[in-house]
Amino acid sequence: MNIVQEKLQTINNSALSELSLVSDSRSLEEIEIRYLGRKAELNDLLKSIKDLPVEERSTTGQMANVLRNELADKIEELRANLELKIDLSGLDVTAPGVIHEAGHLHLTTQAIREITEIFKRIGFYRMRYPEIDWDWYAFTALNFPLDHPARDDWETFFIDPEDTTNKLGRRVFTPHTSSGQVREMQARKPPIRMINISKTARRQLDISHTINFHQFEGMMIDKNITISHLKGVIEYYTKEFFGKDTITRIRPYDFRFTEPSFEVDIACRNCNGKGCRLCKEGWLELGGAGMIHPNVLKNGGLDPDIYSGFAFGFGVERNGIMKSGINIDDLRLLYQNDVRFLEQL
Ligand code: DAH
Repeated sequence: MNIVQEKLQTINNSALSELSLVSDSRSLEEIEIRYLGRKAELNDLLKSIKDLPVEERSTTGQMANVLRNELADKIEELRANLELKIDLSGLDVTAPGVIHEAGHLHLTTQAIREITEIFKRIGFYRMRYPEIDWDWYAFTALNFPLDHPARDDWETFFIDPEDTTNKLGRRVFTPHTSSGQVREMQARKPPIRMINISKTARRQLDISHTINFHQFEGMMIDKNITISHLKGVIEYYTKEFFGKDTITRIRPYDFRFTEPSFEVDIACRNCNGKGCRLCKEGWLELGGAGMIHPNVLKNGGLDPDIYSGFAFGFGVERNGIMKSGINIDDLRLLYQNDVRFLEQL
């Protein structure tokens, strides 16, 4: 026997003894790769046959082929046996199947989708404007004076340092969806019927605030738009979202970008506006609204002598929770991802 033949013999012996111990298909596959795979020692041996004396080459080659075929056959045979050996003893075909629990959408997503659909039915299209935008869109264009408290670092996340050279100011993480108002006016001419739903952020974290939250901003601009349109659209929304018997009121307020300005409340569904433990005063606040200030229209490139419009901005989470009927005493729960809580919504 030459050296190659001896090595072939050794490989054969060790492969056979390993195979005799195999009891699962994973280790069988592992052996197959090791002895017959691309990187197997056998391949190197086959290559070295050409270095043998001529008279030994053909017998050695034959021996290698026989060995390889035998190993492959043996592995096939073992594989077939292992596949037959599936243990069926514990199988009860009459046992009920395992039903996997189905999840559901997060309350915020549910609310966003429903709000979008409600407004779509009266011709409002959904828009999305940058969540990080210039100070100009978030404040200046909306008629905020430079010293307004909302511009204070404690309310709004400013991204850039102070910069007086940029006409648009610094970038901010939008503290309200109202920053989409002037962007929308710049994007198309009236009639405008937009609903802008987006992420917003403010520096507040307590039981009724999360740093990140969502708002939806409605805006309608055309010729002869009045407060009755504003009331009509908001009442339509509250009846669709909270239920047909919802009572809505608007009361005077102050926003820089609307004149007149309002806050919108719905009557507590528990006491119908009389006042109870849940609502205290009888009313639950939805958000702000008003007739768009002429300066804001001008900043959007529209002539306030021709066009008028209304806008409103409500919190998605706030509306969603008020609808869910669950009296949540800590808004932060919404984003702590505790499934025991989320599956109740
Ligand atoms: N942007 C206001 C806020 O976040 C809400 C708001 C008030 C939006 C009046 C409006 C509006 O469109 O007209 O508190």
